[in-house]
Amino acid sequence: MDALNYPLSSYYDFQTGQIVPRDSYRQIHLSDMRGYYLADRETLHEPLKEDPLLYEVYECQVPAKPGEMVPCSTIIHPGSVGGEFYMTKGHYHSDTNAAEIYCCLRGHGLLLMQHGGQCLVETMKPGALVYVPAGWAHRSVNVGSEDLIIFAIYPADAGHDYGAIREKGFLKRVLRGPDGSPVVHEAS
Ligand SMILES: [Fe+2]
Repeated sequence: MDALNYPLSSYYDFQTGQIVPRDSYRQIHLSDMRGYYLADRETLHEPLKEDPLLYEVYECQVPAKPGEMVPCSTIIHPGSVGGEFYMTKGHYHSDTNAAEIYCCLRGHGLLLMQHGGQCLVETMKPGALVYVPAGWAHRSVNVGSEDLIIFAIYPADAGHDYGAIREKGFLKRVLRGPDGSPVVHEAS
């Protein structure tokens, strides 16, 4: 996109995570994430019994060129698939020099960040501000009982590489423990 999309200001609802007016909006259902969840891998080729909405993404459209930045809101709903908490697909940036800033507005979650065989886990609670360094993959996980709302800003020309995560996953998985609290496991 080269032409600026006026007006350049929007309204961000901190309670719902919605950006109005919405330039770009995506819904990600379980059917969009076949094979990402451990339990689903075993039944990958079987029809889903249900197809819940896992998360939603709002993005403001800006010129996709160096120097521009994308404001982005992600709303991850509470729930789990086979005991594994709802999460985003996770990605690397195609431009390995592109970092990202995350700020949690509502809810309780974990942010997985992975690079070169290392996987860090950051707590996301209202006010948590996390810097995702360039070259690190990132995935958000909702481990609470309400929506997890995260505001992010990333370079408009960063690009998204989902393939590496789709094929190999993250080094850690976040599962619901016996008392309902999150337990981080090394991925097998
Ligand atoms: Fe990103």
